[in-house]
Amino acid sequence: MRILYMAEPSSASEWREEFSKQAPDIEFREWPDIGDPSEVRYIIAWEPIPDLMQRFPNLKALYSAGAGVDQFDLSQLPSHVSMVRLIETSMADIMAEYVVFGVLTLHRDIFDYQIRQRERCWMPFPVIPACERRVGVMGAGRLGLAALERLRPFGFQLSAWNRSPKDVPGGRCYVGGQQLHEFLGQCDVLVNLLPLTPETQGILNAANLSLLPHGAGLVNVARGAHVVEEDLLRSLNSGRIGGAVLDVFNQEPPSPDHPFWSHPRVLITPHIASNVQVKGAVDLIMRNLYRERRGLPLLNVVDRSKGY
Ligand code: NAP
Ligand code: GLV
Repeated sequence: MRILYMAEPSSASEWREEFSKQAPDIEFREWPDIGDPSEVRYIIAWEPIPDLMQRFPNLKALYSAGAGVDQFDLSQLPSHVSMVRLIETSMADIMAEYVVFGVLTLHRDIFDYQIRQRERCWMPFPVIPACERRVGVMGAGRLGLAALERLRPFGFQLSAWNRSPKDVPGGRCYVGGQQLHEFLGQCDVLVNLLPLTPETQGILNAANLSLLPHGAGLVNVARGAHVVEEDLLRSLNSGRIGGAVLDVFNQEPPSPDHPFWSHPRVLITPHIASNVQVKGAVDLIMRNLYRERRGLPLLNVVDRSKGY
């Protein structure tokens, strides 16, 4: 059994070691050392692979080395090849931790205090209790629900917006395009955890940002292309948006002259909100191999009709 690793080269040794611990009988190979390509059944990749099926005709599953799959052209994948997301509990926990950081930064007016600090100005603002702050999460999926669960003990008023109805820990689920306006109108802090699809691309545009309460904060941890960056900049400059914690960008890294770098109300991190946790990912692959042998449906398979 051969698994080919074609993701981040600096992490390859960690993957190799984890496979040798959990599944010493699996032959782990790292690109470009592929051996006979017809023996490759499984690939772990982050970037799309040109001519995938011509190069690996016996491929059974393509594992995305991440939660998102927007980088892959799912239409190029024959139906017998599964596209699987390597998301598991520890990856969701790490994302939830970042979301808590972003929400608390906005909730406790940290952008304002940083501006005051640079001015050597000692000036407290009134503290707003968490129970008076409304936090909304777009995308009540694996990561969105984990983030809501982790935010709950702070006492925020929580809600989510999702394609289909979901049980939202501690709050209401707004559903579909018809309830988007109502949802946005009650988000003092908005967290984006949607997958990137043709429907969600550019969803954080001027029209939708203008529906948020004046001075609302944004935490974007999904994909840069969800945001129309010029619209967000205008909203920040006008004060309509009070601050943005941004982990993802249209271009990564943003160009050196991008206004986000120096904006006093923007906090940038280099796409680190969460990432695949190798131990859990290998465990998931092992569970899927077991399921495949028994003819059971694989875990975490992407629904191609939805694109995520
Ligand atoms: P997921 O489990 O597939 O959940 C996606 C959720 O979004 C689902 O609940 C889905 O609704 C909802 N949704 C999709 N399209 C929608 C639409 N048009 N309108 C309303 N709701 C919609 O995904 P996940 O594992 O939570 O991951 C979410 C995204 O996070 C990934 O796609 C990736 O881009 C991003 N991510 C970022 C980082 C980082 O480091 N910054 C790390 C990991 C992941 P249904 O349940 O009704 O289908
Ligand atoms: C990271 O952005 C991921 O999709 O895992």
